[in-house]
Amino acid sequence: MLFDTHAHMDDRAFDDDRGELLSHLPEAGIGLLMNPGCSLDSSRAACALARKYDYIYAAVGSHPDAAAEVNPQVLEEYRALVRENPKVKAIGEIGLDYHYEDVPREIQKEAFRAQMALAAELDLPVIVHEREAHCDGMAIVREFPTVTGVFHCYSGSPDMAKELVSLGWYIGFTGVLTFKNARKALEVAASLPLDRIVLETDCPYMSPEPFRGKRNDPGKLYRMAQALAALRGLSEEDVQRLTLENGRRLYRI
Ligand code: NI
Repeated sequence: MLFDTHAHMDDRAFDDDRGELLSHLPEAGIGLLMNPGCSLDSSRAACALARKYDYIYAAVGSHPDAAAEVNPQVLEEYRALVRENPKVKAIGEIGLDYHYEDVPREIQKEAFRAQMALAAELDLPVIVHEREAHCDGMAIVREFPTVTGVFHCYSGSPDMAKELVSLGWYIGFTGVLTFKNARKALEVAASLPLDRIVLETDCPYMSPEPFRGKRNDPGKLYRMAQALAALRGLSEEDVQRLTLENGRRLYRI
């Protein structure tokens, strides 16, 4: 049984076959699934999916691309979604993305800090999206010593991962683990303590080999488990068990 710790099932890429796909995932080996929000609208959709399907859990938050929407009223909406639904287990995804910079860095940082503070207030873990913003991301993490969670689709250095682990964080790996040229991600995944690694599809993006370029979905998570098993010299069963336990510990499920 696998835990997809980061899947955007509310994405419009699934509009044509979402119900069909979600009703068959448990028999395809997906025992648990975390659907993070990317915006207020997407957070509401994630909560609705968590109500409908036993194995789905939700997180609420505004992604760096939606950082401009974050204001006291939106934060109050997130508080209400957490209060109303015990299956909301995290704040996310939140963070910094300096790759495209559609949203100015200062606005991203402000939204990230406000949502880290919300997680501290509600005593929830966070799901962090951090791309090409390693220094600023770590600086904000250090400002909130009581908040931990997961750095999803990890793209930092082995040293940064080591620091995160020492602070109590988890590291999430996607289909990148199956890419031949993924030297950096493999180096990190090879060096981390086994109780700090979680697996995710980040679907509909980041399809693993041999599905690269196609729409990703949680049914392809077994490929990440196979890649991690080969890398760490473990059986696939052990990887499934370990990463499932890690995901449950991370999200307190
Ligand atoms: Ni994501």
